[in-house]
Amino acid sequence: MTCWHNTFDSETHETAFSIDPTSISFGPGVLREVGESLAGSKRVALFTDAQVGKLPMLETVRESLKKAGIDFELYANVHVEPTNASFEEAARFARDGKFDSFVSLGGGSVIDTCKAAALLSSCEGGLMAYVNAPVGEGRVVPRELPRHIACPTTCGTGSECTGIAVFDHLELKVKTGIASRRLRPTRALIDPTATEFLPRMVVAASAFDVLSHALESYTARPFSSRAKPVNAARPMSQGRNPWSDVGSLEALRLAGKFLVRAVHDASDFEARSQLSWAATLAGVAFGNSGVHLPHAMSYAVAGLVKSYRCEGYPGDEPLVPHGISVVVNAPSVFRATASSSPERHAEAARALGASLEADAPLAEVVATLSGTLTRLMRDAGIPNGLSALGYEDEDVPALTKGTLLQKRLLDNAPVPVDEALMSSLFRGAQRCW
Ligand SMILES: NC(=O)c1ccc[n+]([C@@H]2O[C@H](COP(=O)([O-])OP(=O)(O)OC[C@H]3O[C@@H](n4cnc5c(N)ncnc54)[C@H](O)[C@@H]3O)[C@@H](O)[C@H]2O)c1
Ligand SMILES: [Fe+2]
Repeated sequence: MTCWHNTFDSETHETAFSIDPTSISFGPGVLREVGESLAGSKRVALFTDAQVGKLPMLETVRESLKKAGIDFELYANVHVEPTNASFEEAARFARDGKFDSFVSLGGGSVIDTCKAAALLSSCEGGLMAYVNAPVGEGRVVPRELPRHIACPTTCGTGSECTGIAVFDHLELKVKTGIASRRLRPTRALIDPTATEFLPRMVVAASAFDVLSHALESYTARPFSSRAKPVNAARPMSQGRNPWSDVGSLEALRLAGKFLVRAVHDASDFEARSQLSWAATLAGVAFGNSGVHLPHAMSYAVAGLVKSYRCEGYPGDEPLVPHGISVVVNAPSVFRATASSSPERHAEAARALGASLEADAPLAEVVATLSGTLTRLMRDAGIPNGLSALGYEDEDVPALTKGTLLQKRLLDNAPVPVDEALMSSLFRGAQRCW
């Protein structure tokens, strides 16, 4: 007996899914609530990056902490697209400061750095002890972490709602991360007015991160395809489920409607705030279900960057912004995965704004979803595939090798993954249109 449409044997397979609620306040003005949210804290580490540190939001947060009588110290040195070295530097600051609570003000780079600093300053073992296996040891986070109030300033990652912290491992030339429910911030304060200052390409990259979180959550393998767990501890990447579907579909609908407007017009507050809300919904969804192939591939794309630089991001070193490194893979992936659940891929295309009959054949579903995606990408100014980021066919083996390390994400894919499939997906991602 099962409550959900389920093609798997309920004796041997998972029959339940878990929802870990995130505490969220969303709307203009919530940044003024940082101090109040930390009532009882004595000493707070406030994390931001150099660019966000120059914006008026930082003063709002400082004022709020001062008003609440909380002693704080600023760390404005977060590396955009963090690395193992930058995580470790932030952890040293956190250890030396003996803080009881943490605040992050910035995009995913700042929030993830703050998560890592909170973890590494309060638990034994270095960074690699907690990094996902097989890149790191994948050690379990042994205790609850200090309070962390996350204040996102991009409309993208949803990191304020997830238990994930991502970084580039410089020596291994691959992106990887830490995943534990204990990394999830205590509270998210999301003020969409922060997005007014975002450069055009930061909005474009983070918007496609949102869209990809939603599309990958919606098409991930179902939770019921996992083997029955031996205890109640389900993985954070538990697969798509009725809860993650709700946020994923609404995030797709909002992204389809507002993404291009939000990219091109900084004064379009409706579009940017709806995209912020989509980011939150997609963050809650993928934080509960997990993402899959486009993200797994992005970790190799970002880690092996050659000389690509992107307008709106710090230009001191080559960098592929996260959302771009993800979405360039998406059309190739969804062309290959649509047959795993044509009705879901069709529903996702409809949510993005395409019209598709209920009984459309698979070939039409594939063409419509990838056509809708690439139209949005072109309209938002996303580079046309891996070739536009400087990759060639000869890079496919290294990209494939880096991706095959992303076990947590590959396990969540809707189709079985092997080296041959990965190589063909990367070849298909050389150009998106
Ligand atoms: N932990 C998670 O669940 C999760 C999910 C997705 C992505 N990520 C990670 O997050 C990182 C990307 O984060 P992101 O896309 O939010 O961007 P980001 O934090 O890297 O910031 C991008 C740029 O925008 C600037 N910026 C940020 N907010 C601004 C504002 N309001 N006005 C003007 N400039 C602003 C920053 O200074 C930076 O130069 C990547 O490392 C990615 O891997 C994490
Ligand atoms: Fe992402």
